[in-house]
Amino acid sequence: MSSVVKVAVFPVAGRGTRFLPATKASPKEMLPVVDKPLIQYAVEEALDAGASTLVFVTGRSKRAIEDHFDKDHELERELEASGKKELLESIRQLVPGWADCIYIRQSAPLGLGHAVLCARPVVGDRPFFVHLADDLISAEPSCLKQMQTVYRKEGASVLAVQDVPRDQTDKYGIAEVKSFSDQVGELASIVEKPSPAQAPSTLGVVGRYVLTPGIFDQLEKIGRGAGGEIQLTDGISRLLHSQKVFAYQFDGTRYDCGDKLGYLKATVELACAHPQFGADFSEYLQSLKT
Ligand code: G1P
Repeated sequence: MSSVVKVAVFPVAGRGTRFLPATKASPKEMLPVVDKPLIQYAVEEALDAGASTLVFVTGRSKRAIEDHFDKDHELERELEASGKKELLESIRQLVPGWADCIYIRQSAPLGLGHAVLCARPVVGDRPFFVHLADDLISAEPSCLKQMQTVYRKEGASVLAVQDVPRDQTDKYGIAEVKSFSDQVGELASIVEKPSPAQAPSTLGVVGRYVLTPGIFDQLEKIGRGAGGEIQLTDGISRLLHSQKVFAYQFDGTRYDCGDKLGYLKATVELACAHPQFGADFSEYLQSLKT
């Protein structure tokens, strides 16, 4: 199997109910953090990690995502005619010419595992990234790039994990790891959204995965799990019977942008770091405290 990951899957069919009413008619992945929608951060991270085929698994009311990555000739002509060069550049290269965007429709909201399975005809027999855009991770090198390095070394699936508060284990896939060495540990078990009392650890999976294509056969076989959905976690749990899977404690800060408070934190912190107006914005925040 190839040691380089070239395909990234973005499951973007979820309704984003935690962010209603903002997400009633527009996709949660189009929520802007400072000046870019979440899905743009996601695509940039995948491209930076070496992906050149971008597979979006979409659903109802997600057309804005396709429009965002399509060329808008009319807008480009208008900006060119009015000499707005900087704005023109900002919309011209949202996806470079060498990358392909492929859209697959998830016909029913059957869960993350089902969404990943929908990408099988495009991914085929290759390793691939799964990126959940509402988990925004600020890191240098990017989280997927760090994981690509682990994948090359181990030649097996890799999941990004971080320690979560015990009272929040029921929001995450929870991993049990044999032991860690250099932030990498072999998975012993994984369970989707266990109660705090039943969680085997407090290591929560965040929305970055490098998966081997062996996951597809497992996803075909599993039924509905937690929440009545076909869970990626359950597929990974089955994969463990035939392959090693690794958990990786990434370097970086993760913001849960599907949650209103997490989204606000990401917005404030990325605004403070913005090259153009970060200093002014930080000064403004300071002035609010006094
Ligand atoms: C999904 C996964 C879960 C993972 C989480 C990370 O859950 O099912 O295992 O921990 O993403 O954000 P969701 O947040 O879509 O309910």
